[in-house]
Amino acid sequence: MPNIVELRNINKIYGEKTPNPTQVIFDLNLNIEEHSFNSIIGQSGSGKSTLLNILGTLDKATSGEVYINQKNTQKMTKNELSTLRNETIGFIFQFHYLLPEYTALENVLMPYRITKKPITKEIMDRAHELLEIVGLTKVKNNLAINMSGGQQQRVAIARSLINNPKIILADEPTGNLDSDTTEQVYKLLREINERYQTTFIIITHDRHIAEKADRIIEIKDGRINLDIYKNA
Ligand SMILES: Nc1ncnc2c1ncn2[C@@H]1O[C@H](COP(=O)(O)OP(=O)(O)O)[C@@H](O)[C@H]1O
Ligand SMILES: [Mg+2]
Repeated sequence: MPNIVELRNINKIYGEKTPNPTQVIFDLNLNIEEHSFNSIIGQSGSGKSTLLNILGTLDKATSGEVYINQKNTQKMTKNELSTLRNETIGFIFQFHYLLPEYTALENVLMPYRITKKPITKEIMDRAHELLEIVGLTKVKNNLAINMSGGQQQRVAIARSLINNPKIILADEPTGNLDSDTTEQVYKLLREINERYQTTFIIITHDRHIAEKADRIIEIKDGRINLDIYKNA
């Protein structure tokens, strides 16, 4: 499979222009294959979120290059980057940032509304299908604020998929869920990976979960410490 993401010689220094600059990513190289299911593990403060934010073009590396879908993102303008992000990458965070006063269905449609394209029947069908996949058909017209933590996270998963992204980046997506719900959410992510061939890169502190991925990448002090392929 071709690489959907390529990181080349990534360095990240926070506070570069301050008296106390801190380097948190060191000369990091990483290729991610299309359709693969990857987990990133590592201690708190090791640089996982920084790396994922650079990979998702939410943050810029101090030096190095990020290729998404064979395109060098370094040369893109802010507008080009936000279009690339919205069309190619879905994000799932630990805190889901749903719009509380909107229904589950409206929240799922939100990344599509941002593209300002008209809501077609096809998109509506997709939103309903995604809500079905995440098991929320019965409550899709409930306000987000009235849903449980697990339900809200499943709305966030459906939302991350509405634009049919090639890549899903998830930063501790089950960090505030109980272990049963965590298990269900991961099963769901796997199903989506198989069904839509979506590439997943998931940060998790849960080793049990990480071990279910095709590949485990361990970050230690801003470097790749271990890189294990499961089915190689
Ligand atoms: N915006 C920032 N400014 C300065 N330092 C930061 C910033 N974000 C993260 N850091 C520091 O970078 C290091 C890595 O953080 P992070 O990527 O969040 O680690 P992880 O996600 O593995 O816990 C930590 O020491 C953290 O304090
Ligand atoms: Mg983090």
